[in-house]
Amino acid sequence: MTTDMIRIGVLASGSGTNLQAIFDGCRQNRIDGQVVLTITNNPLAGAIARSQRAGIPCRYIDHRLLPSREAFDAQVAEALGEAAVDLVALAGFMRIVTPVLIQAFQGRIMNVHPALLPSFPGLQAPRQALRFGVRFTGCTVHFVTEEVDGGPIILQAVVPVAEDDSEETLQRRIQEQEHIIYPKAIQLFAQQRLVIEGRRVLIRPAPG
Ligand code: GAR
Repeated sequence: MTTDMIRIGVLASGSGTNLQAIFDGCRQNRIDGQVVLTITNNPLAGAIARSQRAGIPCRYIDHRLLPSREAFDAQVAEALGEAAVDLVALAGFMRIVTPVLIQAFQGRIMNVHPALLPSFPGLQAPRQALRFGVRFTGCTVHFVTEEVDGGPIILQAVVPVAEDDSEETLQRRIQEQEHIIYPKAIQLFAQQRLVIEGRRVLIRPAPG
């Protein structure tokens, strides 16, 4: 790792396909960075096997053993601090994060959400989009603030909704786009090209 490489911590609760996209982006030099730690709150998360295969340490922290969200976030923040991460990437992390974590990594936490925010925040966004009847939905990578799914938007991708889409088919096409835009957003961060100005994120021109 050169000194220009950022150190990334990934938090994942589910199958871990976005974690995999980040691993692949690092391995293929599309991200000037390295995942140094994965954390999960789910002992069955695909993230665990994916981390093992990639040779990256994965910490399981059981939120049910801790008295509060804040106590859980304090443990997460401590582990991320010990790993000296520059960026925290939430990748299908199904926990609301508290100011304990957000303030420890101010402006350095990203999330991917399976809708064009501010539409369809919260859980089951592809289902929400189908039920609402929108023609287009998509995905969003944004900085995390204390407002759930409400932080400044870095990148978005649009996905058309087909009339015969099921929740599964729509979610699959949304995730294909997530796997493209999440590594791109992380690379923009690694290149120090993201400037947060209030609600907006400005993208500085590429170096050189
Ligand atoms: C992703 O589609 C992500 O956008 C979504 O969970 C999925 C995780 O998939 N996140 C949320 O809904 C957060 N509100 P993965 O485990 O295969 O990356």
